[in-house]
Amino acid sequence: MGLVALGVTGGIGAYKAVEVARGLQKRGHEVVAVMTHSATRFVGAVTFEAITRRRVITDQFEDGMNADIEHIALASTIDLLLIAPATANIIGKLANGIADDFLSTLYTATRAPLLIAPAMNTQMFAHEAVRRNLDTLAARGARFVEPGEGYLACGWIGKGRLAEPDEIVAAADAILRPEGPLRGQRVLVAAGPTYEDFDPVRYIGNRSSGRMGYAIAAEAARRGAAVTLVTGPTTIEAPAVREVVKVRGAGEMHQAVMARAGGMDVVVMAAAVADYTPVNRAAQKVAKDADTLTLVLKKTPDILGELGQRRLAAGSGPVLVGFAAETEDVIAHASAKRERKHADLIIANDVSRTDAGFDVDTNAVTIVAASGAESLPLQSKARVAAAILDRVERLLTSRAIKA
Ligand code: CTP
Repeated sequence: MGLVALGVTGGIGAYKAVEVARGLQKRGHEVVAVMTHSATRFVGAVTFEAITRRRVITDQFEDGMNADIEHIALASTIDLLLIAPATANIIGKLANGIADDFLSTLYTATRAPLLIAPAMNTQMFAHEAVRRNLDTLAARGARFVEPGEGYLACGWIGKGRLAEPDEIVAAADAILRPEGPLRGQRVLVAAGPTYEDFDPVRYIGNRSSGRMGYAIAAEAARRGAAVTLVTGPTTIEAPAVREVVKVRGAGEMHQAVMARAGGMDVVVMAAAVADYTPVNRAAQKVAKDADTLTLVLKKTPDILGELGQRRLAAGSGPVLVGFAAETEDVIAHASAKRERKHADLIIANDVSRTDAGFDVDTNAVTIVAASGAESLPLQSKARVAAAILDRVERLLTSRAIKA
């Protein structure tokens, strides 16, 4: 995941930059919009503000803004400067080192790569001055998303129309993401608790916050995977991933995962799925009549176990990763669980510790594989997620070699 400064200049294609911002976010990137004065005449800054949830930079000399500090601060933190649409004017300024507004100043101050999506009238695009400026920028390492051919707002049919947002997002993404085995892989992560309802207002739940699974989903997206997050009820914000499927009970989670698992390369069951669910769900709120209340529970389907069985029967299927919340004999129990469920990895958690496991930002886990167990030190869930996905990448690579 990277931070993209999205420069928007005053072209008729400026409205498409809104879709570009959204597309970048969907791929897990953060976006800060920088609009030139003329861009604000085509699209309102509030539109970008609502989407990026960041203040939009519209002018170098805005009241109350120390331009010198702000552009230098931004220049050193961005991973990519993307200008879409880029007019002949901004291309000319960047090529010639003119820095008379925030965007052009940001360009001279940053060492981040530059990606330009030009958009202008066909004649302007073909003009020698513009061609020379584009060549100058290319020689400096700038990359381009070529304008498409088609109907232009000025009435000409020809080259100059801003490239489609999807194409611009893909080009930006390719610059931001390192090549790795998870890139382009389809990853399903199930996260959070499940709530098993026994009347219209009450349920049996558990203490899972969803943080560990969400961290894995975010890290997989950062590594270029197409991530589907199937999540039980949580209070934390879902990361920007391809698809988020909200479920409540174990039965719903089972359905959501099984329906999608066939098309996946990796499935991570980080959810704390209820093992039992009430046999009956009362139609009305259960009244407090008796001194004791007995709930009869039945076993839920074991999602990971079923995925393991399915893969065993088919002879191929996704890499399977499960979690094991244990309170004693952690490694022995987790190893047995791995074999029983035919998973590749079991991430064993000692939930008796207060600094690891449920509802905290840190975790200490042991990764149990067929080849043995590796204990990781106490660290943030984001780093644990990275370590788990390193192991998943190794498995994907060794599969690819065998295939
Ligand atoms: N799991 C699942 N479906 C269930 C229960 C658990 O897919 N109905 C998954 C969890 O998401 C986790 C792994 O199985 O990845 C292990 O969960 P855990 O509850 O620790 O294991 P159980 O098989 O339920 O074994 P036990 O409770 O007896 O330790």
